[in-house]
Amino acid sequence: MGKIKRKRILTGDRPTGPLHLGHFVGSLQSRVKLQDSCDQFVMLADTQALTDNADNPEKIKKAVLQVAMDYLSVGIDPKKTTILIQSAIPELAELNLYFLNLVTLARLQRNPTIKDEMKQKGYGTNVPVGFLTYPISQAADITIFKADLVPVGADQLPILEQVNEIVRKFNKTYGRGKKILVECKGYFSKTSRLPGIDGKGKASKSLNNAIFLSDSKKEVERKVMTMYTDPKHIHIQDHGKIKGNIVFDYLDAFDTDKKELKKIKAHYQKGGLGDVEVKKRLIKVLEDLLTPIRARRKELEKNPEKVMKILEQGTRKAREVAKETMVEVRKAMRINYF
Ligand code: TRP
Repeated sequence: MGKIKRKRILTGDRPTGPLHLGHFVGSLQSRVKLQDSCDQFVMLADTQALTDNADNPEKIKKAVLQVAMDYLSVGIDPKKTTILIQSAIPELAELNLYFLNLVTLARLQRNPTIKDEMKQKGYGTNVPVGFLTYPISQAADITIFKADLVPVGADQLPILEQVNEIVRKFNKTYGRGKKILVECKGYFSKTSRLPGIDGKGKASKSLNNAIFLSDSKKEVERKVMTMYTDPKHIHIQDHGKIKGNIVFDYLDAFDTDKKELKKIKAHYQKGGLGDVEVKKRLIKVLEDLLTPIRARRKELEKNPEKVMKILEQGTRKAREVAKETMVEVRKAMRINYF
């Protein structure tokens, strides 16, 4: 019987601050699950974070440690997953440079994710070149590890499409019929887009509408209590709406007792169930999830040197893989001089 090749995963986050529940349902949960059956690399994409934070490297550095602690406290296991720091692998910068020649400016400007982010940040034409081209550097991140599976939030799909275009172009231009680099597939979880507590779009740090994995119990309670529900559900006996009701979106994402949840929804729709009751259930569900995560974080916070050691070892291992790919890349491009 032939051996089935394990899938190779590369994924990551821009370290700009602590991770929240949107990250948890969008990608962290998948990573914890996939690390048992796949060969997984998770990147702290600090170089990418600098593309729109060039003036604040201190913030990014601080967030690297925070996000690493988020990873470890949700159960990403450094024995199974290689965690690495992007900026510490210079081969990524080299591959990015070669890829820059394979993409046109017009194609970059058409990328819907970039378009949205540019609008959000109000860049206009004064966009930093590094920011505009980050999908290209992300192509280097993924391909240098020959990843075929990328667990990310749904907003990253246009980036992955562009990555695969670059792979095809590279192979066609330099491969002489051989596939030097591999195309990747996205891996999207059921809830790949969690709304913010204000109901005004997705949960995000910059919109200040997210519940963080590192939030205290009190903070979680406070945030759930302010959550947007059905504005027409004023009296307990009124009919309540589920659609667009953020409390139910969160229960759908986190409550594991689906049978009970169905009953609660029916009761709420019929009338006779108050918002506070439903919110209390959500608080309980979130606390069951977050309590062990908080406990692990507390342990890690006592020993940040140990976390840095994990990152150092992971980065060293990842760099070896990156170096091997670059030997093949330079050879294919015929720039292997010595
Ligand atoms: N762009 C991703 C984000 O916004 C972070 C990231 C950088 C990434 N490099 C990656 C994700 C490679 C997947 C694969 O969070």
